[in-house]
Amino acid sequence: MTTIVVAMGEKNEIGFENQLLWHLPKDLKHFKDLTSGHPIIMGRKTYESIGKALPNRTNIVVSKKKNWFEEGILIVGSIKEAIKFAKKIDEQVFVIGGGNIYAQTIDIVDKLEVTLVKADLKADTYFAKIDLKVWEKVSETFHEKDEKNEYDFYFQTYEKIKSE
Ligand SMILES: NC(=O)c1ccc[n+]([C@@H]2O[C@H](COP(=O)([O-])OP(=O)(O)OC[C@H]3O[C@@H](n4cnc5c(N)ncnc54)[C@H](OP(=O)(O)O)[C@@H]3O)[C@@H](O)[C@H]2O)c1
Repeated sequence: MTTIVVAMGEKNEIGFENQLLWHLPKDLKHFKDLTSGHPIIMGRKTYESIGKALPNRTNIVVSKKKNWFEEGILIVGSIKEAIKFAKKIDEQVFVIGGGNIYAQTIDIVDKLEVTLVKADLKADTYFAKIDLKVWEKVSETFHEKDEKNEYDFYFQTYEKIKSE
């Protein structure tokens, strides 16, 4: 199973100037719970935005740049290679962004774990519109904003509709 994990606003916005758009500790915990123990695949810009390897997960970074190495990450030259290596490590693989990598993987993943943030924010990076002819929402939970989480949001799971 290959799963995209993404947090997006009401206009599918996901980032601005290589940063996330909100501070939602509950979403960070959700992300950690989903991905810990499994390989995660990300684009080079998302890796730079995070700034370090995330612990307890094999961090696979996709980049065409040659001859760079950093502690705790596996650098590969294509998404195909990233998925091939990830699958050798574990059956459950997570694609964690950013926009560029999501756009190239949405048609090949099996599942979407979406955090839909009830906010409309300035952005320069977006997620594709989820095509409901392709994806079925199988669960949704609402979380109200509180002193630590600045917006209302939903956790949503979409599964690919199987064609006959
Ligand atoms: N809200 C969310 O859930 C979420 C999650 C993750 C990221 N983000 C946000 O998304 C933004 C970053 O996204 P982005 O679209 O700018 O960049 P990105 O997808 O993180 O990374 C793009 C880079 O990945 C490499 N790459 C992409 N396709 C490749 C391919 N087919 N083969 C080899 N390398 C490939 C290239 O690196 P090289 O240039 O090194 O070749 C490219 O410049 C940031 O604002 C970040 O905060 C949001």
